[in-house]
Amino acid sequence: EKGGHEYFMLKEIEEQPAALADTLRGHFVDGRIILDEQRMTDQDLRDVDKVFVVACGSAYHSGLVAKYAIEHWTRLPVEVELASEFRYRDPVLDRATLVVAVSQSGETADTLEAVRHARDQKARVLAVCNTNGAQIPRESDAVLYTHAGPEIGVASTKAFLAQVAANLMVGLALAQARGTKYPDEVAREFRELEAMPEAVAKVLGTVERVRELGRSLADSKAVLFLGRHVGYPVALEGALKLKELAYMHAEGFAAGELKHGPIALIEEGLPVVIVMPSPKGRAVLHAKMVSNISEIQARGARTIVLAEEGDETVAPFADELIEIPAVPTLLQPLVATVPLQVLSAEIARARGYDVDKPRNLAKSVTVE
Ligand code: F6R
Repeated sequence: EKGGHEYFMLKEIEEQPAALADTLRGHFVDGRIILDEQRMTDQDLRDVDKVFVVACGSAYHSGLVAKYAIEHWTRLPVEVELASEFRYRDPVLDRATLVVAVSQSGETADTLEAVRHARDQKARVLAVCNTNGAQIPRESDAVLYTHAGPEIGVASTKAFLAQVAANLMVGLALAQARGTKYPDEVAREFRELEAMPEAVAKVLGTVERVRELGRSLADSKAVLFLGRHVGYPVALEGALKLKELAYMHAEGFAAGELKHGPIALIEEGLPVVIVMPSPKGRAVLHAKMVSNISEIQARGARTIVLAEEGDETVAPFADELIEIPAVPTLLQPLVATVPLQVLSAEIARARGYDVDKPRNLAKSVTVE
């Protein structure tokens, strides 16, 4: 059942290429994105003037990752909000609002309450869910299932990657319906998504180094994670994984915020994980990140840098370099998250913890 693995989580990390491929399968037919079984029509999608993504934990991070692409592709404003916050303020919603409720289990109480609240306000709700027939899809107007397969490990891995892919498909469907992308552009974006399972498989082939690195970090007190643009939610997700699996203090920051506070935390030997943008894709962001790394390295931090293979400018600033394949910028989180999952799992194992069942956590959080 664990497929020769010591933990389900490790098996689920390896299943990610299949989880992605299975989630994308069947959604591009005759040159068009098909979102669900026609419960949400093109007209429904054309009427949308604002998107909210509501979710908790890693599912929330999947929304943050997709926001960059959805806004870029559709020119619609996208807000990503924790379901527990969304529900108890007074969000501005109406018929033209699309609420995307993302949940692996489909039973998360806060997300379910957010769905109910949105529907009371007449917003349209699309569930992105990994569990057939769960409560959240049952109460939504439409559902886009992720096909990651059952996820046993409490910490989300393959379901998270599948959520990102599904959220991106929502963006492409909106762009297609609204005409903000030509059909050939939508087709090209979808093909780029379809290339991601292979890119993730490539990352999985190189993680032995990451495991070694994880073991060397087992006695650290804390780890910081920095990213910009789509690398920022990757930093948040990396920090969440480390907290929940290794019970280690971890925080993710937007790199641009360093000078506004977090740089005060940097001290001799502190491990800092930095998610680098592609030097070709976003040269300006890349240059900014290089200057951020040099600042923290100058203050004695141990820099652990995730960078695109062949990125030579970053090497002098990296005490440890983790290479990831070159992929389109908006899709980079799909590859960049994977070494961080492996890193957290390995640190947790080295500290002697059960990575499938972190203390105090439940797989499905059915109370608010
Ligand atoms: C983190 C993790 C949790 C879940 C969150 C939402 O690794 O697994 O943060 O992502 O509890 O769960 P779902 O997606 O079932 O609503």
